[in-house]
Amino acid sequence: MAKLPTILVLNGPNLNMLGQRQPEVYGRESLDDIAAACAKKAKALGLGLDFKQSNIEGEMVTWLQQARGRHAGIVINPAAYGHTSIALLDALLVTELPVIEVHLSNIHRREPFRHQTYVSQAATGVICGLGSQGYLLALEAMANLINPKKARA
Ligand code: DQA
Repeated sequence: MAKLPTILVLNGPNLNMLGQRQPEVYGRESLDDIAAACAKKAKALGLGLDFKQSNIEGEMVTWLQQARGRHAGIVINPAAYGHTSIALLDALLVTELPVIEVHLSNIHRREPFRHQTYVSQAATGVICGLGSQGYLLALEAMANLINPKKARA
C-alpha cells in the first residue's frame, strides 16, 4: 500500500502542561487528549500523523529540518517561541512545506507582546482562539492544501 502523506504537528514549550496550566485560558484537555483527537481526525482524512512536543527551541529547529522531504505539511503551535524565535521561522522556511500556525487562545485579545508572531511569516494560515478545535481545523485545511482535489472528511 502507498505510504500516507504525514503531517508533523509540532508543539512548543509548556504545552506538555495543558490541562493543568491556566485552564481558564488553555482549556482542560491534556496534550495527550489533543494528540488522540488529532490521530482520529488524521485517520479520517487519510493522513499520517507525527505529533511532537518540546520545551527546547533547538530541538524544534532540528525536527523541522528533518521534516524537509519527510513530511507533507506542518501544523505548529510554537507557544511562546512564536513571539520570540527567528530561528523557528527560518527552520520553517527551510522545510519548504505548507505551514499552519495554531494557538489555543486568541493571542490578539491578550497582552500586546502576544499579538505578533515570527512564525506567521512562514504560515499559509493561522488559527487562534478556538481551543483544541483549532488543531482539527488545521488538519482539515492541510488536507485541502496538499491534495485540493479529494473530497474531505
Ligand atoms: C499559545 C499562546 C502563546 O502566547 C503562549 O505563550 C502559549 C500558548 C496558545 O496556544 O494559545 O504558550 O501558543
